[in-house]
Amino acid sequence: MSKSIEKSMSQYLQEHQNLKYIFFGGKGGVGKTVLAGTAAKWFADQGKRTMLASTNPVHSLSGLLDQNVFGQSTQVKGVPNLFGYEIDTKDTIERLKVDIKERIQWFLKFAEISTKADEFVESATMNPAFEESAMFENMIDLMFKNEYDVYVFDTAPTANARRLLGMSKVYSLWVNKMVKSREEARTLREMLSFSKKKQEDPLMDYLVNFRDRMAHAQQLLTDEQLTSFFFVTLPEALPIAVIKRFMGWFQDFGIPVGGVLVNMLIQKEQVTESSPEFVRNRVAMQDSYMNQIWNDFDGNVRSLIPLFDNEVRGTEALQRVAEHVFST
Ligand SMILES: Nc1ncnc2c1ncn2[C@@H]1O[C@H](COP(=O)(O)OP(=O)(O)OP(=O)(O)O)[C@@H](O)[C@H]1O
Ligand SMILES: [Mg+2]
Repeated sequence: MSKSIEKSMSQYLQEHQNLKYIFFGGKGGVGKTVLAGTAAKWFADQGKRTMLASTNPVHSLSGLLDQNVFGQSTQVKGVPNLFGYEIDTKDTIERLKVDIKERIQWFLKFAEISTKADEFVESATMNPAFEESAMFENMIDLMFKNEYDVYVFDTAPTANARRLLGMSKVYSLWVNKMVKSREEARTLREMLSFSKKKQEDPLMDYLVNFRDRMAHAQQLLTDEQLTSFFFVTLPEALPIAVIKRFMGWFQDFGIPVGGVLVNMLIQKEQVTESSPEFVRNRVAMQDSYMNQIWNDFDGNVRSLIPLFDNEVRGTEALQRVAEHVFST
C-alpha cells in the first residue's frame, strides 16, 4: 500500500486525452456538484467546448454557478466554452406519460381489449424507477446530440445506469424476441388483409428504437477512451462504504472507473496543540480513515481537496478548488 498519490487527476486526464463523458458519483453532500463544476471549468479552460449538465430533479448548478441555467443550455458568464444546463425532469416525465398513454391506447385497441389506458399509465409511471429512467433518457439524449467536446454530468442517475447497463444483454434478447413475434403477427395480418400496404406498429417501432438507443448508450458508457466515472468521498466511514459499493458494481459492468477524489480534508499544518479539541479530534478521525482510503483505493486516489473555510460558490471559487484538484 502506498500512502501518496500514484497517479494524479492531471496525469490521469493526460493519459485519457479523448475523454468525453465524465461523471461524479458518491454519497449525498460529499461535493459531487462542486467537483463536477471544477472539472467542467478545467476542461473549458483547456479550450474544450464543455457541457456541465444535471439531470436531477433537485438541481444545484444554478446555485453553484451563481447564475440561472435551468431549462436550457446556458453560457456560463466569465468562462468561455463552458455551458451549464439543468434539465427539466418534470417536463420530460409529463411528455413520457403522454407518449406512453398513446402507445398503451394503441395497443389496447390493437389487442381488442376494452379497458381504459389510464390505469396502466398510472402503474407504469407512478414509481421512482420511472423518474430515474426519465433522467437517464435525458442524459443520453444530450450525449447523442453530440454538440459539445466534453460532457460533465453532475450526479449521474447511478443506480439506473447500472441497472440498465447490467440488464441490457438480457433486455436486448427479450426485445429481439418480442420484435420477432410481433413481426410474425404483422406478416400474418398483412397476409390476411386485402390491402398489401404495411401496417403501422408504433409499439414495435418503440421497442426497436429503445433497444438501439440502449445499445448505443452502453457502447459509449463502457468505452474506456470516452467515459470515466469519478467517485467523491470524505475521510469518513459511510461515504467510503458507499463508493466502494459503487465501484464494485461499475467494475462488474465494465464501466470505466477514473478514480477517487477525497474532499474536505482538514489542513493539518493549520492545526496545533492549541487548536480546539474538537478540531484535533476530527483530524485524528480523518487520519484513520485516510489510512483506510490509501488501503482500499490503492493507486486510484487522484486528488486530495482541503476543507475550505466557506462554501464553494461562483466560478472564482471553482478556480480555487481546481488549484487543489489539479495541483500535482
Ligand atoms: N472542500 C470543500 N470545502 C468546503 N465546503 C465544501 C467543499 N466541497 C464542497 N463544499 C460545500 O459542501 C456542500 C455540499 O457540496 P455539493 O453540493 O457539491 O455536494 P453534493 O455531493 O453535490 O451534494 P448532493 O448529494 O446534495 O447533490 C456545498 O455547500 C459546497 O459548497
Ligand atoms: Mg449535488
